[in-house]
Amino acid sequence: MTRFRPFRNSDPPALTRLWNLSAPRGSAARALRVHELDAHVFGRVLFDPAGLIVAEREGRIVGYAHAGFGPDVPVAADRLYQLSHEVGTVAMLLVEPGPDDEALAVDLLAAAEDYLRARGASVFYAGSLFPLNPFYWGIHGGSEGSGIGSGHSVFHRAAIARGYTPAATTVLLDLDLARPEIRDPRTPLIRRQAQAEFVEDAMPSHWWQNLAIGEFPLTDARLVARTSGDLLARASVWEMRWFGREDGLIRSGLIDVQVPEAHRRKGYARFLIGEILRRARTNLVHRVEVQTSAENQPALALYSSIGFAPFDQAILYRKGVTGHS
Ligand SMILES: CC(C)(COP(=O)(O)OP(=O)(O)OC[C@H]1O[C@@H](n2cnc3c(N)ncnc32)[C@H](O)[C@@H]1OP(=O)(O)O)[C@@H](O)C(=O)NCCC(=O)NCCS
Repeated sequence: MTRFRPFRNSDPPALTRLWNLSAPRGSAARALRVHELDAHVFGRVLFDPAGLIVAEREGRIVGYAHAGFGPDVPVAADRLYQLSHEVGTVAMLLVEPGPDDEALAVDLLAAAEDYLRARGASVFYAGSLFPLNPFYWGIHGGSEGSGIGSGHSVFHRAAIARGYTPAATTVLLDLDLARPEIRDPRTPLIRRQAQAEFVEDAMPSHWWQNLAIGEFPLTDARLVARTSGDLLARASVWEMRWFGREDGLIRSGLIDVQVPEAHRRKGYARFLIGEILRRARTNLVHRVEVQTSAENQPALALYSSIGFAPFDQAILYRKGVTGHS
């Protein structure tokens, strides 16, 4: 007989055991210790014990689903900590492998939806993708949180069984810094026109990113025109330290790559990322990861031109009132 109940303060050791057993290899950092999962999930500002539903059999935890909300969008400084309760997400679903794990996953997903519905949600997502990324930054989903990775088949199947349909596909890419640099003939000219600046321990762009990214220090990179001081390109990087637990590789995550429209197709993004990679090599980083929507052709072409290669695709699922986003 399976019992579903909300999180209790005594659960983290059993939940950590479950994480280390069932969190998908490839998209989740493991093995984690209890205090690490605690710091990244159960101890977060937005953690609501009622939103983490535990499945228990004869006193033993065999699965959990974890639901939460995102911010009102666009994220505004004057609406600090305001969550949007119309749209919720089931950010994580883990079950112990076993003959009825799929049925258990479906029941857990239903229980998580009940939690979201009781708080006002009419649109449900499955997976974690900005702005619906309240938990798990740094321990799941790669460089930003990306939906459900290809290795998490029980979550995919449960979402489909509960009537969800794919809403967004994210491509996860990485670059092996041991490989030779791809040189752009425009580099010497850009170097004369512009300079790259790095700001360590930079402030997150807004309160939601601050909450999501938590303890991880950000380094901001900017490409600035030498004469006018205009911003030509920007990006941020953070150290994905937990993802190296199994293979010992040091990874950096590249996020928020942006070039103002007026300056696009002049090689500025490629130049700035080249500078970021050079710095990462100096810092003995092995891999740099990035992710983008499967529909973002300019970004995919940019990353491929630099030498990034796709290693996974993640899907964010959705169900609910048509017309809601
Ligand atoms: C994606 C983005 C950062 C590219 O910046 P950019 O400075 O214009 O890119 P670059 O000029 O350095 O382009 C380098 C290479 O990327 C590819 N590329 C860039 N933009 C492209 C486009 N619109 N179409 C096709 N290929 C493109 C090309 O291979 C290009 O090399 P080439 O000019 O020699 O053909 C920019 O379009 C942008 O800011 N988009 C909005 C934000 C965004 O989507 N960020 C990525 C989120 S992960």
